[in-house]
Amino acid sequence: MKVTFSGPAAAKTGAALVISASGIDHAYDGGVVKAAAKGANFHGKSSDGFETYVESGVKVFVRGRGEKEPFDYEICAAKVAKSLRGSGTTDFTIHLEGTDATADDSARAALGARLASYIWDKHKSKATKSKKAPLASITVTSDDPKAAEAAYKNYYGPAGDGVVLARDLVNAPPNEIYPKAYADRIEELTKLGLEVDVLGEPELEKMGAHALLGVGLGSERESQLVVMRWNGGKDGVAPACLVGKGVTFDTGGISLKPGNNMWDMKGDMGGSAAVVGTMCALATRKAKANVVGIVGLVENMPDGKAQLPGDIVVSMSGQTIEVQNTDAEGRLVLADALHYAVTTYKPAAMIDLATLTGAIIVGLGHEYCGLFSPDDDLAKQIYAAGEVSTDKAWRLPLHTSYDKLLNSPNADMKNIGGRAAGSITAAQFLKRFVGKDTPWAHLDIAGTGMVNGSKDPRVPTFGTGFGVRLLNRWIADNHEA
Ligand code: BES
Ligand code: MN
Ligand code: ZN
Repeated sequence: MKVTFSGPAAAKTGAALVISASGIDHAYDGGVVKAAAKGANFHGKSSDGFETYVESGVKVFVRGRGEKEPFDYEICAAKVAKSLRGSGTTDFTIHLEGTDATADDSARAALGARLASYIWDKHKSKATKSKKAPLASITVTSDDPKAAEAAYKNYYGPAGDGVVLARDLVNAPPNEIYPKAYADRIEELTKLGLEVDVLGEPELEKMGAHALLGVGLGSERESQLVVMRWNGGKDGVAPACLVGKGVTFDTGGISLKPGNNMWDMKGDMGGSAAVVGTMCALATRKAKANVVGIVGLVENMPDGKAQLPGDIVVSMSGQTIEVQNTDAEGRLVLADALHYAVTTYKPAAMIDLATLTGAIIVGLGHEYCGLFSPDDDLAKQIYAAGEVSTDKAWRLPLHTSYDKLLNSPNADMKNIGGRAAGSITAAQFLKRFVGKDTPWAHLDIAGTGMVNGSKDPRVPTFGTGFGVRLLNRWIADNHEA
């Protein structure tokens, strides 16, 4: 997608968006838009809007600014961009001159339009692919295009790159994104200046990562732990660590899931995709921060070699786990990934993301992800980053009183806590592998990382890229020099 910023100028082709009644409209054929506004009974209220064509053939969408403070230029641009999908319009101009849009608003309008025009049709052949060309260029015109361009180049553009990458990874079918292939994709990010290490099964065996390895036992595909490092901060400053669940497909294992909708479990690597997308954004915008991304990549399959309900595994931390349900596999992967992160990097703070529990969808739906943290300051930082970034997070409790639900007669703990408080017991489980010395938060993104039929114009079907904008914001606000 080509994104450009310029001073006030009428669009020559495609579609254009004009917000409120004044501003640009004189530029179109001597006030024809203004004249149309009269006919359309347009008064600039937030509910007012109409479309008209000008002589060049440009379709002008006029939308009311309303009185609301602040106005959401990103959503407004996204809605129009979404309506252009499948129309064959390749150029979209967003007119913000004469409005109160800041440089940030202008950059966000471009990002909103870009995210709304995302399409996943890579595997459609000529027979079913849309014959209409997709949107190819977005132009934002404003009174201060230099500042808007800087905001896009230095922040929102790279964030968009990260979101698109995360969406592509989540949407990719599981015969394309399995652990080794996924690790190869991540290795390509070295071209952005990231350091990438890939640990395979021999290395993981040596480390004693048997909680993670146990999940992959039933799979023909080799499990992987991938580490990405971005050293944009000062030497010796402890990094922020981002850890992601990367179950490239979750059949449930021997505790097999029902067949209906099982195909959605290709997205069970959404947490890892958020981490990979964020690392891409940070490297692209050359963030002045030290950040380590760690993703555990496994395929959860039933097989003669698969792990069994009742198996006891010794995690990398030495704690033993009775695997009562092989479908509670994400926490097993994260147990070792989190322990590895803490012991190897001594992070200043650590956030993990995972499509961990169906229960979080029951609790919070598809709007907010679940946020769990024993650290009030970190929880506040993440909540704040969520509200401004649009990837919203809502805090739920952690408490030792839930720990008894994880007691096992045979090992240090079991991997399921029963029906009650399913998302909390999962988080309580993870906490045991973090220890007390690292400020840590867990984000359960099962409801937000993959969404079918979202009403948000920026969110396409299935892979949402949720978490990238949140983490990117959190790093920018709390870990950058
Ligand atoms: N990947 C699933 C969670 C999930 C469910 C994500 C629906 C997205 C949509 C996870 O591995 C899982 O199977 N969790 C179980 C845990 C249970 C066995 C304790 C669940 O939520 O049912
Ligand atoms: Mn599962
Ligand atoms: Zn899973």
